[in-house]
Amino acid sequence: MGPGQSAKVRFVAAWALGCGGWLAVASCAPLDPRVGPLLEDDAGLDAQGRPTDGSTSGTDANNLPDGVAAGVSFALQIRPLINRAQGDPAGGGCRDCHDSTQPRHPGYDMSGFDTSTLKSIRRGGNTSGLRILIAGDPTGSVMVMKLEGRQTTGARMPKGETPWAPADIATLRQWITEGAQGGDNE
Ligand code: HEC
Repeated sequence: MGPGQSAKVRFVAAWALGCGGWLAVASCAPLDPRVGPLLEDDAGLDAQGRPTDGSTSGTDANNLPDGVAAGVSFALQIRPLINRAQGDPAGGGCRDCHDSTQPRHPGYDMSGFDTSTLKSIRRGGNTSGLRILIAGDPTGSVMVMKLEGRQTTGARMPKGETPWAPADIATLRQWITEGAQGGDNE
């Protein structure tokens, strides 16, 4: 048997094994569990479900699916920063001066700015008012101006304390960019 004959024997064997005829020999491939359409369904996404090719198709700027609300949570990410203690080396909190539910609150007394709830934060203080948080405009929001030292009245906040780290201010900025969402009691 020469080389040509041997190839012909293998071809006939494949055909005879019932893979659907010689034009459909490729249809035998999915029998191997490592290949085939099932795997391709999951391919191209990482563990967080983001495209591995760097595309943002179907996702917004935060890599969240289109239509999914705020990526930054006030309650989980901003409130803990606000409620840090005075003297926290990572950045001073506001609670010891601006929380109307605390025993003493010199910042609230002097400025009217009460950080006890998100509702009271949104009211702003005597000079900021509703400009305290302007949804979609972190640069114009007085809370950010005070933290960044760009304020037009009074001191940089937290007054006399370690300024917030740029990453923490960036989180606050992102939350405002996303619409400063959250419940009144947060
Ligand atoms: C040591 C006390 C103290 C701490 C801590 C403090 N503040 Fe103040 N804050 C004040 C005082 C006093 C004023 C009023 C004078 C001024 O504006 O500088 C004030 C005013 C403000 C105002 C102006 C409100 C208005 O409408 O006039 C904002 C906004 C503010 N603080 C934000 C913050 C934030 C945010 C934090 C936490 C990161 C913070 N403060 C921490 C004492 C404090």
